Amino acid sequence: MRIGIIGAGSMGGILARHLVKRGHRVSIANSKGPQSLTALAAETGARPVSVAEAANGGEIVILAIPTKAVLDLPRALFADVPGSAVVIDTGNYHPELRDGRIDAIERGTLDSQWVSQRIGRPVIKAFNNIFAKSLLEKGVAKGTAGRIALPVAGDSPDAKATVLRLVDDLGFDPVDGGDLDDSWRQQPGTPAYCRDLEAAALRRALAQADRSRIAEYRAEEEARIKRSIAG
Ligand SMILES: NC(=O)c1ccc[n+]([C@@H]2O[C@H](COP(=O)([O-])OP(=O)(O)OC[C@H]3O[C@@H](n4cnc5c(N)ncnc54)[C@H](OP(=O)(O)O)[C@@H]3O)[C@@H](O)[C@H]2O)c1
Repeated sequence: MRIGIIGAGSMGGILARHLVKRGHRVSIANSKGPQSLTALAAETGARPVSVAEAANGGEIVILAIPTKAVLDLPRALFADVPGSAVVIDTGNYHPELRDGRIDAIERGTLDSQWVSQRIGRPVIKAFNNIFAKSLLEKGVAKGTAGRIALPVAGDSPDAKATVLRLVDDLGFDPVDGGDLDDSWRQQPGTPAYCRDLEAAALRRALAQADRSRIAEYRAEEEARIKRSIAG
């Protein structure tokens, strides 16, 4: 497939590398411009492009940027992107550590619902709850014992099916995480978040999550990250 990736850091770079290896035609963009992506392009085989080209050049468009950076995307970025293009949001909102407070999310809008509203397009939430290192190293063939499962949440059954297939293609068991309104179950700090669980355990963890604890889960995850940074 033709896949455009916006964001060329840990997640964007790893996704580009894996997707090119699987035969997809990948273009990738960051905020600094394609000339800054020469080394990544040589290493991954992805084509460095502008943000507009990445948004317009894909049957799938992957957002792999910090949540706060969604505010910096051009407002009409997706205006001419065909409705058939599937937009994946890999993002997680980290208000203390990185993003600053985003009032709508603080008031209860889910991370990816907010992204969807900002870009004016439905999104599928995926790849947000696996750490970059596991995404890089732990994909394995279907049927391999211990294969990690990843949840995929979104409202369009067709778009979700495309992303479920992509997850499988990348070496992970795809698990339907429900509608975008269910995507809080895979947000930071929840029982399903970045635990490298197999499919049955992931389904149990998604079901165990408690909606009244979204903010608490997030705060716990930020505290965990702060502790790990502090050593
Ligand atoms: N790292 C993980 O383990 C992990 C796991 C799951 C989910 N996530 C989530 O995935 C998202 C990306 O994380 P990451 O770790 O890959 O971040 P990262 O390593 O900091 O990379 C961020 C990338 O976004 C680009 N970017 C920033 N603002 C942009 C803009 N306005 N337009 C285009 N590109 C822009 C940056 O490009 P410039 O350098 O040119 O600004 C950079 O290439 C975040 O929401 C994160 O929470 C991360």
